Amino acid sequence: MRITFCCTGTKPEPWLAGLRQALPGAEIDVWHPGAAAADHAVVWAPPQQFFDEQAQLRGIFNIGAGVDALLKLRLPPQATVVRLDDAGMSVQMAEYVCHAVIRHFRELDAYEADVRAGKWSYRKPSERAQFPVGVMGLGVLGARVAQTLTQFEFPVMGWSSSPKTIAGVRCFAGDAQFREFLQASRVLVNLLPLTPQTQDIMRMETLSLLQSGGYVINVARGAHLVDADLVALLDSGHLAGAMLDVFRSEPLPSEHPFWRYQNITITPHTSARTMRDQTIVQIAEKMRALDAGKHVAGTVDMLRAY
Ligand code: NAP
Ligand code: GLV
Repeated sequence: MRITFCCTGTKPEPWLAGLRQALPGAEIDVWHPGAAAADHAVVWAPPQQFFDEQAQLRGIFNIGAGVDALLKLRLPPQATVVRLDDAGMSVQMAEYVCHAVIRHFRELDAYEADVRAGKWSYRKPSERAQFPVGVMGLGVLGARVAQTLTQFEFPVMGWSSSPKTIAGVRCFAGDAQFREFLQASRVLVNLLPLTPQTQDIMRMETLSLLQSGGYVINVARGAHLVDADLVALLDSGHLAGAMLDVFRSEPLPSEHPFWRYQNITITPHTSARTMRDQTIVQIAEKMRALDAGKHVAGTVDMLRAY
């Protein structure tokens, strides 16, 4: 088996060493223009030239959960595209989102500002029942996040394409129940894949439906959010703040208005990082399954685009 590695922005040596250990007998090399034809590819943000040259690929293994950027390229039509299935990301997402919700709910930023100003001050505790959290996307990451939030006894809602049952989570499904889901939520967490159906999903029309004092946590993709609409809703006071990990343009340009909002917390696309060792083990298993003609979890449905 020949594997080609083409992950932009990733130091290849430790990946090659790990993949060679996990797949003894496989020939594994970093791709370069003109490289030999491979059976499988391990990719992150490859150039179009990569697929133009490697048109025979059987498997394309993305070292991330989101495949939106990959699906913008012309891919070999026969290739199976496989994305990461947790691989250590769901626990990170759960800790990031719970941190964001709790930090907002407990007014920890305001306490920190007071302490820095030398003030010993108390704030009236908020009612947990007044902080219903809605999670958009109940897949590998969203389901874990929703479940974890229930441990802190927030009312938790979830919304997905197909109906789900998750203990302690009020689940909504499909376009028909989207409005009801939003109206029942005060904090909105986005864990949807970026597809033609979900692009710009957080815009004036939808964010206005959140309960007053709403809070937005975007950990999926920047293009889910219409930036100007978030800013307008913060200015009007309908929304209280946001914690954003992903942006339309990354790194977030220095002139972007988000930098100036005290009530927007920014992190640099770091809420759930790819964990190399777990990813290598998972990809090796998936490659073996694909070669054996077995079902591969995390296979991307090209029609749904996730
Ligand atoms: P996933 O397992 O594919 O789950 C996607 C969920 O979204 C599913 O529940 C799906 O519904 C739902 N969904 C898709 N389209 C929908 C629509 N039009 N309406 C309603 N629900 C819809 O994906 P995942 O592994 O949880 O990852 C989610 C996203 O997180 C990734 O695509 C990526 O963009 C992002 N991410 C970000 C980071 C970061 O560091 N910021 C890290 C990893 C991932 P069904 O279950 O009914 O199909
Ligand atoms: C990161 O954003 C991922 O999709 O894994």
